[in-house]
Amino acid sequence: MELPFAESWKIKMIEPIHKSTRPEREQWLLKAQYNLFKLKAEEVYIDLLTDSGTGAMSDRQWAGMMLGDESYAGASSFYKMKEMITQITGFEYVLPTHQGRAAENVLFSCLVKEGDVCPGNSHFDTTKGHIESRKAIALDCTIDEAKNTQLEIPFKGNVDIKKLEDALKKYKERVLFIIITITNNTAGGQPVSMENLRETRMLANKYAKKVIFDSARFAENAYFIKTREKGYKDKTIKEICDEMFSYADAMTMSAKKDAIVNMGGFFATNLKEWYDAAKVKCIVYEGYITYGGMNGRDMNALAIGLDENTEFDNLDSRIKQVEYLGKKLDEYGIPYQRPAGGHAIFVDALKVLTHIPKEQFPAQTLAVELYLEAGIRACEIGYLLADRDPVTRKNRFDGLDLLRLAIPRRVYTDNHINVIAAALKNIYDRRESITKGMKITWEAELLRHFTVEMERAE
Ligand code: F0G
Repeated sequence: MELPFAESWKIKMIEPIHKSTRPEREQWLLKAQYNLFKLKAEEVYIDLLTDSGTGAMSDRQWAGMMLGDESYAGASSFYKMKEMITQITGFEYVLPTHQGRAAENVLFSCLVKEGDVCPGNSHFDTTKGHIESRKAIALDCTIDEAKNTQLEIPFKGNVDIKKLEDALKKYKERVLFIIITITNNTAGGQPVSMENLRETRMLANKYAKKVIFDSARFAENAYFIKTREKGYKDKTIKEICDEMFSYADAMTMSAKKDAIVNMGGFFATNLKEWYDAAKVKCIVYEGYITYGGMNGRDMNALAIGLDENTEFDNLDSRIKQVEYLGKKLDEYGIPYQRPAGGHAIFVDALKVLTHIPKEQFPAQTLAVELYLEAGIRACEIGYLLADRDPVTRKNRFDGLDLLRLAIPRRVYTDNHINVIAAALKNIYDRRESITKGMKITWEAELLRHFTVEMERAE
């Protein structure tokens, strides 16, 4: 008999988690104004809000923490981190920042000005926020197929090359760079193919534009290239990363994802002029250039995490678990963005709560139900997160309305996954009885989903 698949690690340390009763959850939810970000973590049983900073570090990473060099300037921890980044990406200049959005802030402070256009595949919300708050346009040129959740294609995160070229022709000098998010989080943790990265690079060369990778989940992207794209089966993840980054001029990184640290990020490039401009911003916003926003110990853990998570077995353990959740949902007939993403399953709320109007935020309604059902906290990636159009101030109801079940790295077992799937099945079976969606009572101008206050719609 062939031996079944199992994780490439075992557990050395555990953290207790607690169940609660439905009346308790009802009360906590009311207090949180139906915004799951406002719950206390102890009020949550299984936390799928994000895979960011929530991973379990390895024994090697923890050992690295003890050896952190906390020198203000020139710490050995910085050089260890920089060398690992250079080895994996080929970028020589590295600026540490406290997380991904800080790297965006440091870089975009130098590059983005009013009236600019920043095309790419789907921008993550902080990236969009950093562009739009500078009165520039974040132009989503993702392939249209990404909007059809039931279509199963291998690289649903791709840039639509034709849309991109039209944008480059139309906006000319208003475009300085193209930004590609790997994997494409907003479209469902969907990967971008090597071919698409290469074509984007060629187009950028043709129009003399630069290319930036938003690289939060680049290792997961490399895994999908290895397992799905012709010609890459026999290459190592590190070899694939090397080719991927050869198509970029710079990267921003939220190390809280694929470097499996609880906090940290960086900007890296080979463009000396970008580095020189960004290092000044790094000092102002983050810290001196050899620590930016990070402790020495965290830079050590980051270096080791990057090394470990660009190895196939580690990625295979993780992505197979996400796929397992997808298969359970298939069994129950629950529709989600197909195929399963790298870091999460995105349930298609519009196909589950078909009778809840868009104006009542179906995905957020589903998030509330899942919490009430089993104390599971997931995240709306839909009409709340999409914010209002900066010009018309209208809600943006044209995209997908998804409920993201983000799976933290190396944290939950398949038994937890079974609980998540069963809770969703219960909701799916009684979906017609969910008659009231959500109504906003207060919202911020930008990135509203973090702080929004809501009540039940009438
Ligand atoms: N880019 C992508 C693709 C992201 O997914 C995130 C964060 C960021 C940039 C910003 O990085 O949080 O370190 O400042 N995504 C998290 C999520 C928050 O839940 O998807 P950060």
